[in-house]
Amino acid sequence: MARLIVYYAHPGQRFSRANAAMAKAARSVDRITFVDLYAEYPRHDIDVDREQQRLLDHDVILFQFPLYWYSTPSLLKEWQDLVLQHGFAFGHKGDRLAGKRMMLAVTAGGADDAYTAEGYQNFPLRVFLAPLEQTARLCGMSFTAPYVLYGALGATETDEIPRHSKGFADLLTAIRDDLYDFTSADSREIVRFDDLPVLQRS
Ligand SMILES: Cc1cc2nc3c(=O)[nH]c(=O)nc-3n(C[C@H](O)[C@H](O)[C@H](O)COP(=O)(O)O)c2cc1C
Repeated sequence: MARLIVYYAHPGQRFSRANAAMAKAARSVDRITFVDLYAEYPRHDIDVDREQQRLLDHDVILFQFPLYWYSTPSLLKEWQDLVLQHGFAFGHKGDRLAGKRMMLAVTAGGADDAYTAEGYQNFPLRVFLAPLEQTARLCGMSFTAPYVLYGALGATETDEIPRHSKGFADLLTAIRDDLYDFTSADSREIVRFDDLPVLQRS
């Protein structure tokens, strides 16, 4: 069984449709750790020792967030700046996260065809996520394809959002149970709810 922690970061949860539904689905998965960063640190006073211990206690670190200005919401950036310390996460003797995995679950307002060289966002989504990917690598962690919902603003509450949320719970369960096919996921650009790389239980 993999020890999985989900860090959820959404500053305006009252207005959230996609991430609120995903967070609810994630909370229903037992034997994983779910952390609502904005609820725990409304004043952004991150407890670095506690967060570093949380990282040490888990194998897979998953960040769930809406894409804000092509990046993470600010509290998650603050968390990175403070928690991934030199001597802990990287640099001299900074190997405490080596061998772990980082994964992202991202919702984007832009549609999938916007995130292309021809689309109005000009670049594929993975280009905007490269800082997190390289952060993972610098810390000796592997980085696997993000779980993505494009067009999140227009996603329907009767179909797409429930399916994406259910897919999220299924994905978390598969990671927890060592049934997530990271080899397949690693070769993909992104992962979507209708094509989860989950292995069958033998
Ligand atoms: C401050 C802000 C910045 C945003 N920046 C982006 C962006 O850079 N790219 C994008 O595709 N969507 C962007 N969006 C749209 C959000 O990603 C979208 O509203 C969110 O993923 C929907 O999820 P939710 O229902 O959980 O809030 C932005 C929204 C806000 C409020």
